[in-house]
Amino acid sequence: MPQVVWITGASSGLGLHTAKALSESGFAVYAGARSFGQGKTVPGCRCLPLDVTDPASMDAFAQAALEAGGPPDILVNCAGVLILGACESYPTEELRRVMETNFFGQAAMISRALPLMRQQGHGRIVNFSSINGLLGIPFEGAYTASKHAVEGYSECLALEAKPFGVEVMLVEPGDHRSGSRAYRRHSRGITASSPYKTAFDAGTAVIARDEDGGSDPDALGRRVAKALKRKRLPRRLRIARTDQLLAVVLHDVLPAPLFDRIIGSYYRERGKR
Ligand SMILES: NC(=O)c1ccc[n+]([C@@H]2O[C@H](COP(=O)([O-])OP(=O)(O)OC[C@H]3O[C@@H](n4cnc5c(N)ncnc54)[C@H](OP(=O)(O)O)[C@@H]3O)[C@@H](O)[C@H]2O)c1
Repeated sequence: MPQVVWITGASSGLGLHTAKALSESGFAVYAGARSFGQGKTVPGCRCLPLDVTDPASMDAFAQAALEAGGPPDILVNCAGVLILGACESYPTEELRRVMETNFFGQAAMISRALPLMRQQGHGRIVNFSSINGLLGIPFEGAYTASKHAVEGYSECLALEAKPFGVEVMLVEPGDHRSGSRAYRRHSRGITASSPYKTAFDAGTAVIARDEDGGSDPDALGRRVAKALKRKRLPRRLRIARTDQLLAVVLHDVLPAPLFDRIIGSYYRERGKR
């Protein structure tokens, strides 16, 4: 019997590539996203409408997936949104929207899948974090806060769920050229007269360029599928370019003022080019 996977955010980007790779690796994939309610599908996957900010939608997804395929062996939490803006001027509803999708959405899906995994005595939970779950960069304050929440929550979850036979893995991607621009909004707080406008334009130009030149999303999907075939899950699957992996190490070892100078100048100076 193929192992049953529930995956969120599977209509685009890394979720889509991961869902396809899992299906090609022989998993039975139940894929969720809001646009699956509007006719979009993914080959090889059973696509069900899912909004991770809506409790009724999550209940309906869990019910439909359970009836069709039985309890999940694996939950992959991939749904995510990004709103680029300045920490000072994010409207609270934008901060909430990012946290609702990226963090509360993951927690709520775990609350639905974990009891089923406990009952069967095994399970695997894969939470998509980011390199931004490990360090901050300018104008990704809301997103970075949500991914730091995912990191901390997942570490606690791993300790609590292990006695029930449930393992937890964090996926920490660097820039991948998959993400849809539709999910990368600019904050309403950045107006033409914002004191952050010049730095924001430079910084977001670098962010866009890094995404466009990012790593291969198919390869990430295959790495996740391969990890899920292993006997033991690694706690972290960090999939990023060498300079981004190095940034994580420097963040942890350099004095903060020096690290800030390096990151600050990267986004300021490269944005002028
Ligand atoms: N791409 C990268 O470079 C990168 C780097 C680091 C981490 N990540 C992480 O990887 C994950 C995927 O990101 P991405 O950039 O590849 O994808 P993306 O193209 O931005 O797609 C986001 C996905 O999330 C779904 N989604 C958004 N809001 C949702 C909601 N309320 N309920 C259910 N689904 C929702 C979208 O589907 P619908 O609109 O159909 O609902 C879509 O499938 C995210 O967690 C992101 O933080 C990505």
